[in-house]
Amino acid sequence: MSHPGRDGFRPDPPPGGWPRSSSNNRGPWISAHAVAMDRRYRFSRHFYDVTRRYSLLGRDKLLDKVVTSPTTATLEVGCGTARNLLELAARNAPGRLYGLDASHAMLATAERSIRRAAGHRPGGKGIVLRQGLAEDLDAQRMFGCRDRFDSIFFSYSLSMVPAWSDALRAAFGNLRPGGVILIVDFWDQRDLPTLVAAGVRRCLAGWHAGYRPEIHDALIGLGRSGRAEVQIESVARRYAYLATVRPTAG
Ligand SMILES: C[S@@+](CC[C@H](N)C(=O)[O-])C[C@H]1O[C@@H](n2cnc3c(N)ncnc32)[C@H](O)[C@@H]1O
Repeated sequence: MSHPGRDGFRPDPPPGGWPRSSSNNRGPWISAHAVAMDRRYRFSRHFYDVTRRYSLLGRDKLLDKVVTSPTTATLEVGCGTARNLLELAARNAPGRLYGLDASHAMLATAERSIRRAAGHRPGGKGIVLRQGLAEDLDAQRMFGCRDRFDSIFFSYSLSMVPAWSDALRAAFGNLRPGGVILIVDFWDQRDLPTLVAAGVRRCLAGWHAGYRPEIHDALIGLGRSGRAEVQIESVARRYAYLATVRPTAG
């Protein structure tokens, strides 16, 4: 029996059924958050990559920091349509690529994109997707990995996770010594012209998205505590931030 949800909702399958790759956690019981994510992306997933192209800034900058080789294992938490994983898969040496997402609907779209890409891009075949919650991340149970990940990244997903501190903790626990956690997410838009910043914030509020200062503060605190080296960079005049987190030994 797969992992029962925390709060016992029984969702309808997305059109076309559950994606083949989401065998983990695919029981009749999944979490309310997964149901909410399925509702949220039910329609928008079909044109997500086109519409988010100019709003999810900094994703390629994050991918530039992901070091891959034939032996590396890289995980995207909240992988959505697999847009980022497919970018990595197109490299000469992408290593092993994994995607975790709460939404079955998003994963169904990701599966389709991967299948399409695999037709003409051999690297696309090597992506393993699983349905599950970021805060429950477990490399072995979810992906059957004996080793932990070299890189774990969150691209505009951490701010959507209610239990974000548990998700960060789980990422720490599933990272190899010397590994890196990368996060790109909305910042405070402070360096944008006032009217532009106000427009951006209105737009994000309409999407029920935006800056979560408590996450940013926690990342700064993590760096100050010495538990990790934390570097924060601005993307497009603080539209977003890109955090590089390297846990320190011990
Ligand atoms: C804004 S989308 C970003 C998708 C992708 N990372 C990108 O950059 O295009 C956020 C994704 O995070 C997923 N997500 C939200 N909360 C999650 C959670 N608790 N665990 C796993 N995935 C989650 C959503 O289902 C959605 O696919």
